[in-house]
Amino acid sequence: MLMTPTASNQILAEGKTKVLRPGEQPEEVRVTFKDAATAFNGEKFQEIPGKGTLNARISAILFELLNQQGIPTCFVGKGASENELIYRNLAMIPLEVVIRNFAYGSVVKRFKFEEGMAFKKPLIEFFYKSDDAGDPQLTDEMIDELSILPAEANLDAIKLLAFQVNEVFLNYFKAINVRCADFKLEVGLDKSGNLMLGDELSPDNFRFRDADTGQVMDKDAFRFDLADLTESYQELLRRLEGHPGVPDTSGLSNAYMASIRVQSRKNILNPESKTILNALHTMGYASVQELRAGKEFSLKLTASSLIEAEKQIKTIGEDILSNPVIEDYSYILRLA
Ligand code: CDP
Repeated sequence: MLMTPTASNQILAEGKTKVLRPGEQPEEVRVTFKDAATAFNGEKFQEIPGKGTLNARISAILFELLNQQGIPTCFVGKGASENELIYRNLAMIPLEVVIRNFAYGSVVKRFKFEEGMAFKKPLIEFFYKSDDAGDPQLTDEMIDELSILPAEANLDAIKLLAFQVNEVFLNYFKAINVRCADFKLEVGLDKSGNLMLGDELSPDNFRFRDADTGQVMDKDAFRFDLADLTESYQELLRRLEGHPGVPDTSGLSNAYMASIRVQSRKNILNPESKTILNALHTMGYASVQELRAGKEFSLKLTASSLIEAEKQIKTIGEDILSNPVIEDYSYILRLA
């Protein structure tokens, strides 16, 4: 069904660099990327003709790459104009999820790392998306205290999604001789409660450096007047367009650690739980009212990607280690 022109041009939301309007399908939105560059929470601002188109094109390539790798994103396709994309409508979670592979920006200031040094493992940090509060950093407990996550979402799933994205990007950018130093993601839930990547995947939210020369290919060009923004973003787009398709994943580190926990279902008192509960009562611990016996398995495994490792862990947890009729399982997965 086509929207009437008035309805389709109605602005649903407008930020510093994007405008959202209704899409032609009820669950979709049209996202227009503006020709605006902003930094330092809006203190520095400049109109840069063509920037919106560059960001839309770079985002489309990177979203498409993730979609091809089975990572859930909001990206549906390109829009009617060069600076427009079509997204699945998501209920966004007010979190900024920052992944860091190399030390740049605020982490250098806060922890005095040497600029450009490689971290032992990718780091993840969370910030509260709130211009009024100045986007403060969050701990897991503060995320809980502020009730930032809706009931259907959990932080482990968000971390896993962010690390999966990083793994695809690290590998892909290596192939075009770009250092993917750090980036910020935002996530949301679709109408069925599925966690997905939203926002944009443009050099506004990344730090990209030429792997050999250190040439800047991201918003630092504008932030610190290091180079011409248009030239820098165009160079990145040239490299992306020159290397289409799914990246070769053969160079990935392929070892993963997983812990799978199996427990009897909440209202099922299995014989083992019953025996232990009775024993505790006999030993004078009448205060223990409920007990769920369980087991935990620690696994080290190899897989071609984090997504593949997650698939294996789910099958092992659900089909082999637990009895789905009477037990629940949960898992934590990370790079070894
Ligand atoms: O970039 P800045 O030094 O202000 O902050 P950072 O914490 O070092 O940023 C890490 C990465 O997240 C960089 O690639 C930033 O471009 C991105 N970021 C963002 O896109 N939006 C924010 N509000 C904060 C960081």
